[in-house]
Amino acid sequence: MTSLERPAPAELVERINRLRHRRRAYIIAHNYQVPEVQDIADFVGDSLTMARAAAKAEAEVVLVCGVHFMAETAKLLNPDRTVLEPDPHAGCPMADMITPKELAEAKSRHPDAAVVAYVNSSADVKAMTDVCCTSANAVAVVQSIPPERPILFVPDESLGEYVAEKTGRRNIILWPGFCPTHHRILAEHIEARRSQRPDAEVLVHPECTREVRHMADFVGSTSQIIRRVAESPRRAFIIATELGVCHTIRKQNPTKTILQVSRLADCPNMKLNTLEKVLWSLEDLVHPVTVPEDTASAARQAIERMLAIS
Ligand code: 13P
Ligand code: SF4
Repeated sequence: MTSLERPAPAELVERINRLRHRRRAYIIAHNYQVPEVQDIADFVGDSLTMARAAAKAEAEVVLVCGVHFMAETAKLLNPDRTVLEPDPHAGCPMADMITPKELAEAKSRHPDAAVVAYVNSSADVKAMTDVCCTSANAVAVVQSIPPERPILFVPDESLGEYVAEKTGRRNIILWPGFCPTHHRILAEHIEARRSQRPDAEVLVHPECTREVRHMADFVGSTSQIIRRVAESPRRAFIIATELGVCHTIRKQNPTKTILQVSRLADCPNMKLNTLEKVLWSLEDLVHPVTVPEDTASAARQAIERMLAIS
């Protein structure tokens, strides 16, 4: 290989494997990562199981392949360890749809409300909230709050609306944030897939619009969707979330038919991480995640309250 050639994936994987042992690194990846990054990870999961894996990590270095809020959550739970992200530009646009200033203003308009923040938010926002939630446990988190207490749910309006439907609570104040990737999934995409396989089970992430959620046979987090396909007696499935989850689903269910809802369901931020960047991360210990301790202690409490609930 000349220095200008891109290393073959096998060579990259070998170099990553040598370094991860030398660095005593633990690699955590989200279900939306490109297949080759999922395949080299020690743990692959949804935001909730990634946070739990991060909390249990005993390695010196925790490398988080996902988007920034996931690496930040891992850092909050591992303040004394080196937590790295392969690409510091891999953000989540939904997390940027609420700033601490905007949340402070909303809190002053609703002083009695408990603030529930989806983990897709910054550490600064988490530090101003009572409890965090993920798509896997948002219903349980909301149910843990006394029914008479209003809830300010930020920043995902679709998830908040789903939780309100599931719990029957009318006192949830929703924030107008959304996931651009999930909102590109339309009812007509599901209809088109259904006309291909009318027997298919429709699995939908709660970040999708109400119209799409209401077409679902099952609504859940990415890991809950993966588990549902493995456990369901049906033979065909329409997967209405980011297309990265189809990698694990197809690996685990080689005889089932897995239909991605639409090629548009592709999160460009999640796809910024590559094997090359994983290798550079381990070589140069970049890019370390830092959270100022005053923010971190309050944000950590909001995450730990969530982990204690479910
Ligand atoms: P999950 O927690 O369901 O994996 O979702 C994270 C996310 O960013 C969905 O867009
Ligand atoms: Fe954020 Fe949506 Fe990408 Fe998830 S899929 S990281 S919510 S932009």
